[in-house]
Amino acid sequence: MGVKTAAMIQLVESPRLVWPTATVRTSYLVGEQADCLLRGTPTDWLGPASEDFDEFVAVRRGVRTRWEVPSTIFWYVSGEYYLGTLVVRHRLTPELAEVGGHIGYHVVAPWRRQGHATRMLAAGLVECRRLGIDRVLVTCDADNEPSRRVILANGGVPDGRRQREDRFWISLDADNFGS
Ligand SMILES: CC(C)(COP(=O)(O)OP(=O)(O)OC[C@H]1O[C@@H](n2cnc3c(N)ncnc32)[C@H](O)[C@@H]1OP(=O)(O)O)[C@@H](O)C(=O)NCCC(=O)NCCS
Repeated sequence: MGVKTAAMIQLVESPRLVWPTATVRTSYLVGEQADCLLRGTPTDWLGPASEDFDEFVAVRRGVRTRWEVPSTIFWYVSGEYYLGTLVVRHRLTPELAEVGGHIGYHVVAPWRRQGHATRMLAAGLVECRRLGIDRVLVTCDADNEPSRRVILANGGVPDGRRQREDRFWISLDADNFGS
């Protein structure tokens, strides 16, 4: 029996944003490792994750202070498959208002170029709306064309460049999201 690559897998359930969950352990570890290897970034953090995945998940669930603001980590998940991560920062510091913004995300390498990031950001905007954020700042590296497309497809309106990051505002008005 051959190994299935992500491109060969038909997702039965539509992916959705959930709190980190141990149900996607294998897929998370494989996906994040592939991502690190592609980017040439360290994989050592995956060791402790692999040894005690329940603990790894537990410390990522719920609202936690990161970047000096309340933040929520979501995983984009379909059944047993982990596709990516989206972080919502509930408010902006002066630094985040320049670069970083409310939302950060990535789709792991095996699942890219299938429209997942575009849909994941749309789902992230729904979470922002639930948190009472009505204007969302998203920033991306000036060279990051895929991310720029993801942001524009979700209604991002350009607002200049700071420190090599392009900035975009997305309005979550009632027309888009109901009230
Ligand atoms: C940026 C990223 C999230 C895109 O994820 P993805 O699931 O592949 O994105 P999508 O499939 O929704 O594609 C979005 C658009 O980018 C295009 N695209 C995706 N990868 C591309 C690539 N390598 N080269 C050129 N275009 C690309 C798609 O064709 C699509 O364009 P379209 O809307 O005109 O059809 C993913 O590449 C990633 O995680 N990168 C590393 C982390 C990162 O950059 N995060 C964003 C920080 S702001």
